[in-house]
Amino acid sequence: MTQDEMKKMVAEAALEHVETGTVIGIGTGSTANHFIDGLAGIKHRIEGAVASSKTSAERLAAHGIPVLELNNVDGLSIYVDGADESNHHLHLIKGGGGALTREKIVAAASRKFVCIADESKLVDVLGTFPLPIEVIPMARSYVARELVKRGGQPVWREGFTTDNGNVILDVHNLEIMEPVKLEQELNDIPGIVTVGIFAKRPADVLMLGTPEGVKTLT
Ligand code: A5P
Repeated sequence: MTQDEMKKMVAEAALEHVETGTVIGIGTGSTANHFIDGLAGIKHRIEGAVASSKTSAERLAAHGIPVLELNNVDGLSIYVDGADESNHHLHLIKGGGGALTREKIVAAASRKFVCIADESKLVDVLGTFPLPIEVIPMARSYVARELVKRGGQPVWREGFTTDNGNVILDVHNLEIMEPVKLEQELNDIPGIVTVGIFAKRPADVLMLGTPEGVKTLT
């Protein structure tokens, strides 16, 4: 079974979490794309969706799924999104696609966060995947120096601008032993908009696509 087949399988299994008559939050990436495609088949059951990126909003709209603004809804029943890494506490690294800020906002506004991924994303310690950090452009060099002081090796994702007009630093060589603490600490550096550690608000459910079927961790 290929990695993409595992992503599709888990995305389809996550449709069971969709609550009828509600507005749901939608993530970004290839696994989230499979979920959007599956959602098209049951679109009459939901009121609409709030997207975490322009790309996902366009895909939802192409399927005729109503795309709503977060400011115009009371709250979201669930948020479904992929991840770049998850540990066994369901702390995540996200932002490989650069959508981490809106992903963190939509996740925060949702009652339940269902993370969908292929089994390769489950790790013991976060940090092998370079940690994406969204930064205000004029603070890029300052923030990079602060990250070096903390033992990281930041690499500017050149040529990439986020949906919010900012830049991304991908931080290599971090062994993230205390995700909640590091998320808080990095959030406090002026110029950082969002850290790609999702630990203060982890996933509630992690569904993993494996060759033996879907495994669920809570
Ligand atoms: C997007 O910014 C990321 O947080 C994605 O959720 C992550 O990169 C997962 O992507 P795939 O589903 O394509 O593996």
